[in-house]
Amino acid sequence: MTHHTFPLRTERLSLRPHEAADAVALQRIYAIPTVARFLLDDPWTTATAAENIAERMPKSDIDGPTGALMLVIERDGVAIGDVQLWLTDAERRVAEIGWVLDPACGGQGLATEAVRAVLELAFAHYSLHRVTAQMDARNLASAKLAGAVGMRREAHFREDWWSKGEWTDTLVFGVLASDQS
Ligand SMILES: CC(C)(COP(=O)(O)OP(=O)(O)OC[C@H]1O[C@@H](n2cnc3c(N)ncnc32)[C@H](O)[C@@H]1OP(=O)(O)O)[C@@H](O)C(=O)NCCC(=O)NCCS
Repeated sequence: MTHHTFPLRTERLSLRPHEAADAVALQRIYAIPTVARFLLDDPWTTATAAENIAERMPKSDIDGPTGALMLVIERDGVAIGDVQLWLTDAERRVAEIGWVLDPACGGQGLATEAVRAVLELAFAHYSLHRVTAQMDARNLASAKLAGAVGMRREAHFREDWWSKGEWTDTLVFGVLASDQS
């Protein structure tokens, strides 16, 4: 599969691989308590932001050496979140997806728009077989987004994950290439 050319454009957004300068904007977003609450990460500091962005920068191609595609969501040239896609089974073309949006930009369907575009890329360009999303079962906004982009709720695991000092439930959503019409 050929490398996709970025940015990936939608009606209101532009998605592109990470750059070192994104550390500032994404640190601010990932440090917000309501954003970090259901993520595996602790709130980002300046130091962890730089580390995380450096780790993400080479992740620009599902079929490249990293098996991952981590895209910054930009609106009018400003980084407002990200969508992450990574292979969990390279041979069988199964991947997992994750998303984060600046709450200041929430409630306008922007995350839905960005995730839809990445799923379209996942199936139409990268010919993936299946994409899953996992989230803390209390993360209603995230579960709603997964449903809105056509992912089906497949599992609710009870207290399967120890997160930030407590047992948490996990929801698993999935979408298949054959679900695409
Ligand atoms: C999960 C997350 C990205 C969802 O953000 P969001 O703002 O709810 O999602 P969207 O941008 O798609 O907006 C959807 C909302 O906009 C509304 N909306 C307005 N205009 C819309 C449009 N043109 N198209 C679609 N929805 C629109 C929808 O009705 C919905 O509102 P509702 O939740 O009141 O029903 C965000 O809450 C987040 O970043 N959370 C913290 C990080 C996190 O937990 N990530 C997931 C880890 S698993």
